[in-house]
Amino acid sequence: MYISNNPNNELEQSIVQVPDLVQIPDEIHEMAQKFQEAMMMYTCAIREVKTKLEVLNDELSVKNRRNPIEVIKSRVKKPKSIVEKLKRRGLPLTLESIVKNLDDVAGIRVICSFLDDIYEVADMLTRQDDVKLIAVKDYIKKPKENGYRSYHLIIEIPVFFSDKKQPMRVEVQIRTIAMDFWASLDHQLKYKKEFIDSEDVERQLKECADVIAGTDVQMLNIRKNIESRGIEIRK
Ligand code: GTP
Ligand code: MG
Repeated sequence: MYISNNPNNELEQSIVQVPDLVQIPDEIHEMAQKFQEAMMMYTCAIREVKTKLEVLNDELSVKNRRNPIEVIKSRVKKPKSIVEKLKRRGLPLTLESIVKNLDDVAGIRVICSFLDDIYEVADMLTRQDDVKLIAVKDYIKKPKENGYRSYHLIIEIPVFFSDKKQPMRVEVQIRTIAMDFWASLDHQLKYKKEFIDSEDVERQLKECADVIAGTDVQMLNIRKNIESRGIEIRK
């Protein structure tokens, strides 16, 4: 197979001096195509799980007049991160190895309003008879040492393609808005840790995580108190 360089990109041509046509060996082309196909399958798996979550949210918003889910985000793991993770774990860099060893190529993040919504959404999703629960990590009941809180599920769902029914794994992270706020900033700050007193930063971040966890409990209690007085909570 041949790919053509962009003739308009004069700067690139003058610096790199690549020939006009680069020949790609057939086996590399075949491998790239298989990889692309696998990533397409993960994208489809994300779409299936996302639809399940959206259906649940719509149903609950009619029944309870309140949406338990604020936002659903998703991503397919970048090839660079896939390779880094396989290397870190000393695993072979093959497509078979990706499918067999990595459970988080397809990732969905569900941001809920309140703490109890997390468990309700997780229960409703895993009770569905085409959803196979592979693993659960409850970082809310047992937070990570640094204060990270979230409810992680690895599920397997069947995805129907033209010629096969393929079981696909998806990582679902469920957390409150507050937990998401902390995790997002924690993730950003981690890149700068080498430039600052990291022990102090770790301690302060942990403190923030604990304050936020307290606020989540308080918010839930406020909602329950309002509900117990028969007042409807609407969006
Ligand atoms: P990974 O190799 O990162 O996938 O970790 P793991 O396979 O041990 O799984 P785990 O359930 O611990 O974490 C999976 C994902 O949760 C990560 O990729 C992050 O998205 C998120 N996560 C876990 N720990 C932290 C943390 O301390 N801070 C933040 N911001 N996110 C975290
Ligand atoms: Mg991960």
